[in-house]
Amino acid sequence: MPLPRPEIGHLLTVGRTRLRESTAIDHWRGAIAREDAEDLLALALGVEVEALDPEAPVPARAERRYRDYLERRAAGEPVALIRGAVCFAGLTLKVRPGVFVPRGSSELLAEAAIAALRRRPVKVAVDVACGAAPVACAVAAALPSAEVWGLDIDPAAVALSRANARRNHLTNARFRVSDLLAGLPPRLRGEVGAFTMHPPYVARREVRALPREIRGFEPRHTLTDGSADGLGLVRDLVGQAPGWLRRGGVVLFEVAPYLSRPVQSLLRGAELEVSVRSDPGGLTRVVGGRRR
Ligand SMILES: C[S@@+](CC[C@H](N)C(=O)[O-])C[C@H]1O[C@@H](n2cnc3c(N)ncnc32)[C@H](O)[C@@H]1O
Repeated sequence: MPLPRPEIGHLLTVGRTRLRESTAIDHWRGAIAREDAEDLLALALGVEVEALDPEAPVPARAERRYRDYLERRAAGEPVALIRGAVCFAGLTLKVRPGVFVPRGSSELLAEAAIAALRRRPVKVAVDVACGAAPVACAVAAALPSAEVWGLDIDPAAVALSRANARRNHLTNARFRVSDLLAGLPPRLRGEVGAFTMHPPYVARREVRALPREIRGFEPRHTLTDGSADGLGLVRDLVGQAPGWLRRGGVVLFEVAPYLSRPVQSLLRGAELEVSVRSDPGGLTRVVGGRRR
């Protein structure tokens, strides 16, 4: 007689325990190990998390897949890379090793850009350092009449951005390999309604202190610009953006809460009118400057 198969509830307990022990994962919230185990078991079974029935048996092949995923996750690999995709602002975006994995926190940056552009008859948005293009795609999807540009210094990021726009049928988003704004068409001078940027803002010396799940899986140029305070690219964009902004246009940065004040000072120094947006926990994550 074949042995009874382990149930979903049991395998979730096994997974939770394995992931809680992992020092490669940043356990900044208590629920991370549980949520990741659920995501990985659902992935192995090919179902949604909501469909996991604790008493249902798990077929042998799915259990093998799950245990393999668990070991990869315990070594630090983000769930998104194991899955190969993320859901961002209702869009499904492909991810792959070598390109920064979009974070849910960047939805706030996209929302700020969409809010700033909605009131404008002509809408030009430029997402600088676009990575896999979560923000560019979210803006292009929310504002079909907008002309959206995504720029990144890394050709692999630009190739993935193009693929993500294509798979979401976003014909109003275009992408270029570009060091900051170097590749932006000159005809857009004075026309841009919103710049967005989620820069590599980790200070040079802080990179080695990052958890392994970040340091070991995101390329260094996506984490730091090599400056002592992490604000080298922010300073450069604050210097360049006003020449491209239309009156009333904004430049919006997603940064860690501890960088909010230094970024505000840089924006004020460029004579931009400062505003901030906070996440649901009340922490400032988006800092913006408006051209008067
Ligand atoms: C933190 S990631 C953000 C990616 C994406 N915006 C997101 O939120 O998922 C930073 C990005 O900056 C890009 N980058 C670094 N230096 C750059 C530069 N000088 N010009 C343009 N992009 C740059 C990296 O290739 C990387 O994709």
